[in-house]
Amino acid sequence: LSSSTWTFNKTLSNLIRHSPISLQSSMMQVLALPYLVFSLCFCRKNILRFLDPERDISILKGTLKPGDVIHYVFDRHSTTTISENLYRLLPAVSPMKNQHHGRCAIVGNSGILLNSSCGPEIDSHDFVIRCNLAPVEEFSQDVGTQTNLVTMNPSVVQRAFQDLVSKEWRDRFLRRLQSLRGSVLWIPAFMAKGGEERVEWALRLILLHTVDVRTAFPSLRLLHAVRGYWLTNDVHIKRPTTGLLMYTLATRFCDEIHLYGFWPFSLDPDGKPVKYHYYDTLKYEYTSRSSPHTMPLEFRTLSTLHRQGALQLHTGSCG
Ligand code: CTP
Repeated sequence: LSSSTWTFNKTLSNLIRHSPISLQSSMMQVLALPYLVFSLCFCRKNILRFLDPERDISILKGTLKPGDVIHYVFDRHSTTTISENLYRLLPAVSPMKNQHHGRCAIVGNSGILLNSSCGPEIDSHDFVIRCNLAPVEEFSQDVGTQTNLVTMNPSVVQRAFQDLVSKEWRDRFLRRLQSLRGSVLWIPAFMAKGGEERVEWALRLILLHTVDVRTAFPSLRLLHAVRGYWLTNDVHIKRPTTGLLMYTLATRFCDEIHLYGFWPFSLDPDGKPVKYHYYDTLKYEYTSRSSPHTMPLEFRTLSTLHRQGALQLHTGSCG
């Protein structure tokens, strides 16, 4: 990822390896935190050359008006029109403006979280990011409930809430939104065609029921900027996953970043089956050529960053 981080790591590990055994563990403890901060700072500095997470996390009100036509980021030939509802819910200032947090958790959706008992540990973080409105109440022991920012791909409305076909599903979706209580709801509305109606349904419910969420709609340049950053670091991802996007953004706001629920493999380290999502029965072909993501490659990258101290991957059980 970077030669100076690598040199620093090598020096550090040599220093520890050549110290007396009795000194090694205390050295690790003393050095762990500055080392973590150093590597994260390094990532943050490089990422800032490609994007400004505070700005790119959302399009702001002043930059668009109702009726404006937008080309989708991945389907450049298709367009969508800014609706009155979407305009009303664009933030006037970045929802992450001047935000700085000590310990952040990003919770991925892998089934590796089941029976992990990581809920209390996840909730102990200062800022918790979750993906795709994944359910928490029924799984709180393993995933916690605290949520400061949650993403919602438009496809979630179809996959997890049956396209709001009945009153029961609409109520269920509304209850999930209401449970967010002031969190940031991050909706990538302009990435790929096909989600326009679903976004509109969600926005209508939020406005109709004055749901207490701070909506955010990522900038049109975010995806390409994030991909560009990882490509220049030799990580050839096709389309970054929500999890990797969140890590990239979090480097700007967090002193420490802890990842839970990142495990894009169908078996755990002991060879036991792992569900793709902790909460549903969806199947996923991690290495399929037709998949838009390259999750195992992303995971390898995250593991490297873990070794370098720029994040902490938690894949086992807690406590
Ligand atoms: N994730 C993982 N291993 C899994 C499932 C998910 O590491 N078995 C991580 C990925 O980083 C993913 C995030 O958790 O982005 C959230 O999971 P999901 O909701 O499935 O996100 P995406 O796959 O990015 O969503 P989509 O398929 O709609 O793009």
